[in-house]
Amino acid sequence: MFSRTLLILLCSFALAVVAAPAGSNSASPASSALPEFQTTAPASDAPNDQTFPQDETSGTPEPIEGALGAPLLGGQNIELDRQNPDFLAPPTTDNGVVGSAKWSFSLSHNRMGTGGWSRQQNVALMPIATAMASVNQRLEVGAVRELHWHTTAEWGFVLAGGISVTAINSDGQNFEDTINAGDIWYFPAGIPHSIQATDASPDGAELLLVFDNGNFAADSTFSLTDWMAHVPKEVLAKNFQINVTAFDHIPAKELFIFPTAPPPTDEKAVSNPQGTVPNPYTFKLSQVPATKVAGGTVKVVDSRTFKVATTIVGAIVTVEPGAMSYFLEGTGRATIFASSATAETFDYQAGDIGYVPPSFGHYVENTGNTTLSFMEIFNADIFEDISLNQWLALTPPELVKANLGFDDATIAKLSKVKQLVI
Ligand SMILES: *[C@@H]1O[C@H](CO)[C@@H](O)[C@H](O)[C@H]1NC(C)=O
Ligand SMILES: *[C@@H]1O[C@H](CO)[C@@H](O)[C@H](O)[C@H]1NC(C)=O
Repeated sequence: MFSRTLLILLCSFALAVVAAPAGSNSASPASSALPEFQTTAPASDAPNDQTFPQDETSGTPEPIEGALGAPLLGGQNIELDRQNPDFLAPPTTDNGVVGSAKWSFSLSHNRMGTGGWSRQQNVALMPIATAMASVNQRLEVGAVRELHWHTTAEWGFVLAGGISVTAINSDGQNFEDTINAGDIWYFPAGIPHSIQATDASPDGAELLLVFDNGNFAADSTFSLTDWMAHVPKEVLAKNFQINVTAFDHIPAKELFIFPTAPPPTDEKAVSNPQGTVPNPYTFKLSQVPATKVAGGTVKVVDSRTFKVATTIVGAIVTVEPGAMSYFLEGTGRATIFASSATAETFDYQAGDIGYVPPSFGHYVENTGNTTLSFMEIFNADIFEDISLNQWLALTPPELVKANLGFDDATIAKLSKVKQLVI
C-alpha cells in the first residue's frame, strides 16, 4: 500500500552555493557505445547540482543556468528567489507541472489569541495536499486550546516546551497526560480533547498538528464554548439539572486560545468509574532512540507501537551534510516525480511543509552544510516506503541491466537491505 506524505523540515539547512554548471547538455555517446537492445539515447550528463545563479556585480539571484535563461529586468523578490533557487533556475531534469508541493507557514494568515496563535495550511492554500492539512500553533505557559472536537483525526508533535492533553472516549473513559518536546499525540476523529501548555518551559509550547483531510479548517472545529453559547440557557439548565444561574458567566462566543494558570506537574486524569482509555493518546517519541543509518538517523512511529494512531503515522529523519536519500515513497531539495515525464524540484527551509501525493517518486537531498532533519507524516496506519536502491538490488540483475544499462560493478554495489538514508 502506498500512502500520502506530508513533510515538515524541523531543522535549518543551508543552501549550497555552487557555481552555475559549466558546459551543460553534454553530447550523447555515439549509438555504437549503447548497450545492446537500448532503444533510447542515454539521459543527459548535464550537471544539476543546486545552482544559485547570481549577477556577478549585484549578487542578486538570476534565472540563468549555463546557456539557458536571461537576467530579470522587472521587479524581483530577492529573498524568495534566494530561498527557491530550484524554482528560479530548475534542474534540467525537471519537466511539466506537478503542482506546488511547498508551503511556508510564513505565508499563512495567523489567528491571534490572548496567550498564543495558530496558523494553518490546507487545500485552500495548497491544492495538491488533498489528504492532509496542518497547523502550527503556539501556547504561552498555561494557555489553553479550549475543549473541542473535529470530524478529522489529529496527529500532533511538540516542537518546543511541554503540554498537558485531556480527552474522553464514547465509553466515558478519560485520559490525561503530560508530554514534552519531541513527543506526539493522536486523537481519533470525534474525540473531544484539550491542549494546555505546561510550565516545563518558561516560554510555553509550540506545536505542529496534522489532520487526515486536506479540507480541514481550524476555524471549523467544534468548540465547547461556541456550542454552549448557542444552546438556550434553559436547555443547558435542564441538561445538567443545575440552576440556570450557574450559566451566568459562560462565554458569549468561542474562546479558541486563552490564558490561565498552568496545570500541576504530571496532573492525572480525573478519577473515573469507567476507567481510563485502553490505549493512550500520547506517545513519548522523545524517549525512543533513533536508529542510526549511513548518513543520518531515523525514528519511525506507527500503529505497531502507537496503537491509537490508525490514520496518521510519522517518522523523524536526519540527513547529514552531503548525504542524500532516495525513496519511492516518503519526501530538503526534493524532486517530485509524477509519472508521464513530469517532475518538479522544490527547496525547503525550516518551518516549510512539503507534500508528496501517494505513490509519487521522490528524493530528499541535504543541500547545506548542517544536518537536515525532517518529519515525514503519512496518512496511513503503517509506515511504508519502498527504496529505489533495494528495489533494483532485489530484481533480476539482467533485467536491471536491460532497463538501465548498468554494468556488473554497478549491480554489485546495490543494497539489498533498506538504507533509508544513503
Ligand atoms: C436559582 O437560583 C436563584 C438565585 O440563587 C434563585 O433565586 C432561584 O429560585 C433558583 N431557581 C431554581 C429553579 O431553583
Ligand atoms: C555553511 O554554509 C553557509 C551558507 O552557504 C556559509 O555561509 C558558511 O560559511 C558554511 N559553513 C561552513 C563551515 O562551510
